[in-house]
Amino acid sequence: MIYAIIAAGGIGARFGADKPKQLVGLGSESILTRTVKVFEKIDKIEKTVVACPEKWLKECRAQLAGLKKVCVISGGETRNETIMRGIDFIEESFGLDEKTLVVTHDAVRPYVTERLILDSIDAAERYGASVAAVEAVDTLIECENGFIENIPDRKKMFHVQTPQTFGALKLRRLYDDLTDEEKDSLTDCSKIFILRGEKVAVFKGDRANIKITYREDIQ
Ligand code: CTP
Repeated sequence: MIYAIIAAGGIGARFGADKPKQLVGLGSESILTRTVKVFEKIDKIEKTVVACPEKWLKECRAQLAGLKKVCVISGGETRNETIMRGIDFIEESFGLDEKTLVVTHDAVRPYVTERLILDSIDAAERYGASVAAVEAVDTLIECENGFIENIPDRKKMFHVQTPQTFGALKLRRLYDDLTDEEKDSLTDCSKIFILRGEKVAVFKGDRANIKITYREDIQ
C-alpha cells in the first residue's frame, strides 16, 4: 500500500502571515489545497494524511472538505516528528507492513506534479528510498566565520526537494534509533537514512517545484 503524508505542521515564521503559510491563498485556493489536490489524483495512493498545527485543525479540515482521500491530523514539534505522527496514524487506522510506502511532501510546494509523485514512488519501489533533486546552478561554498573553507565540485551538488518516498516501517525504525543530537541535525527525512549508511536514490526534480518560504516566493 502507498500513502501520502503532507507535512503541514509548521507555523511559517519566516513568511510572517497571520496564519501558517500553507493556509494562505494562492490565486483562488490555498497553497495547501493546491498541493493536496495533486495527490488526490494519483490512483496508487490510498490516503493522503495531512498533518497541520493542532490550533489550525479546524481551518485545515474546512479547506480540504470535499477531497475524498484526505485525513487531517495534528503535526509535531519538528518536521520529522510531524512525519512520524503521520506514520503512527496510518498504522493505527489502516495497518502497516514492510512493503508500505509513504510519499512525504511539503505542504508548501504546491507546484508538485503527478510526474514527480509517480517517479518518486517508482524509484522507492526499486531502491527502497527516493528523493527529488535539481542540479545546483550557483557555485556552492562551505563557509565559516565569514571565509570560504571549501568549494565542492558543482557537478556533484544538487538541491533536494520533496516528494521523498520511503518504506514506512524502515523510516520509523531508523529515526527511533537516532540520538537526540542526530535528530537535531536533521533537515529532512533523507538524512535519517544517510546517518545510518542506507542508500537513497535521487530522481530528477523540477525547478518549478519551489518551496514557499518567504512572502516574495508567492510572486
Ligand atoms: N513542517 C511540519 N512540521 C513542523 C515544521 C514544519 O510539517 N513542525 C512542514 C511545514 O509546514 C512545511 C515543510 O515542513 O510544509 C517545510 O518547512 P518550512 O518551509 O521550514 O516551514 P515552516 O517551519 O512553517 O517555516 P519557518 O521555518 O519559517 O517557521
